[in-house]
Amino acid sequence: MTYILAIDQGTTSSRSMIFDAGLHPVATAQQEFPQHFPASGWVEHDPNDLWSSVAATCRAAIEKAGLRAGDIAAIGITNQRETTLIWDRKTGKPIHNAIVWQDRRTAETCDSLRAAGHEAMITQTTGLLLDPYFSASKIKWLLDNVEGARARAEKGELAFGTVDSWLIWNLTGGAVHATDATNASRTMLFDIRSGDWSDDLCALFGIPRDLLPQVHDCAADFGTTRADLFGAEIPVLGVAGDQQAATIGQACFDPGMMKSTYGTGCFALLNTGPEMVMSHNRLLTTIAYQLDGQRTYALEGSIFVAGAVVQWLRDGLRIIRAAGETQALAEQADAGQDLVMVPAFTGLGAPYWRADTRGAIFGLTRNSGPAEFARAALESVGFQTRDLWEAMRADWQGADDGVLRVDGGMCASDWAMQFLADILGAPVDRAEVQETTALGAAWLAGMRAGICPDMEGFAAGWRCDRRFEPSMEPDRRDARYARWQKAVKAAMGV
Ligand code: G3P
Repeated sequence: MTYILAIDQGTTSSRSMIFDAGLHPVATAQQEFPQHFPASGWVEHDPNDLWSSVAATCRAAIEKAGLRAGDIAAIGITNQRETTLIWDRKTGKPIHNAIVWQDRRTAETCDSLRAAGHEAMITQTTGLLLDPYFSASKIKWLLDNVEGARARAEKGELAFGTVDSWLIWNLTGGAVHATDATNASRTMLFDIRSGDWSDDLCALFGIPRDLLPQVHDCAADFGTTRADLFGAEIPVLGVAGDQQAATIGQACFDPGMMKSTYGTGCFALLNTGPEMVMSHNRLLTTIAYQLDGQRTYALEGSIFVAGAVVQWLRDGLRIIRAAGETQALAEQADAGQDLVMVPAFTGLGAPYWRADTRGAIFGLTRNSGPAEFARAALESVGFQTRDLWEAMRADWQGADDGVLRVDGGMCASDWAMQFLADILGAPVDRAEVQETTALGAAWLAGMRAGICPDMEGFAAGWRCDRRFEPSMEPDRRDARYARWQKAVKAAMGV
């Protein structure tokens, strides 16, 4: 029993990974599943797809590793956050598709709560901004729009969960209805100061408290899998939302440490320790992890378009055939041109939060071509990260002497990482294990099972693949960032 199974249930695919007790990856299996867009701005997942892709990839990973379920000491779960599910406690049947975090159908609910003056109380209690992104307004939508749902919820017949809870429910055959503090902190119903569901927020959104799962530490006993699923019972001992799991996987355990994960979008988290820092720059305050009942907080900034800008070069503009070609193209760009791309394809996230802004490109000449577009696309990711970096520093002095730890697909580009270091004026450390999200979940479970090192030991084992030192002249850095800021303002029309 010296292996750990990490489940990473993401927005577009489910992955399962086996790690050994030294936290080295041994085998991986991945499955994509369909996205449903029933109306403009709506995004849904079929709950059965989420569960069946997880169950199938778990089995495939165990088989690829040449193991049996009995060799696995523990399961760790990490997941796309905020995505909202409700199911029947007796039958386990979902009452509707899952409403995905990207879904904007509850924008009006949020607007009317704002107009009624509730935003300050919500932010103070949850650390979040009043936005459809989070679960509460999605739960309300399900109770209001699925026939009979509210009455059944009031009778205690239904259960709500983020994806982690849905997986725990299915893994344990309906025996456990639980979540962890990081996932709870994204529901907009959780008081992150007291570490409990807020009765005031449940009342505000009209959500019966009985609907909600029990909240545990990130490393805790979340029940045992049904023996028939994988051939033997396996305890579930670790749970964290994916961005928090990446923070853990990057060993950002000290206040002031910051990580940034570059997937489709980018999520940056800055550990602020036991101190709950409220943002004045429209960042989120969230729980980074909860261990032994102790909460560690973080400031979080989200960028909607990071890797997605490279996908756009490939699928929209068709100037590359594969993402890996972007760097070579960017390197050929004419140094005399200064194209700035604001990739606000779906609005702007932190720190602007402008849903209505759309993308723009500035500085085009007759000589501008694919190479200049590729360079501007990669640079836009660096500029947006600098926006978050600035906002975090303005919010919290403890963030002063920074190194940024990075992971995710885009980090494979040395060119993009060098530009990031240049534009931040700070070193960028690329993690050796790029699967930091799964690694974080694996460590939580393995540590709880007693087969992995404690926090100090895990942090000591964290390895940097490469450090990128800033080499851009400060004057040039300032001028380029000022030009980006001007471009964002122009795109926003201010
Ligand atoms: O908050 C949403 C985030 O958890 C989704 O992450 O990696 O599944 O796109 P990802």
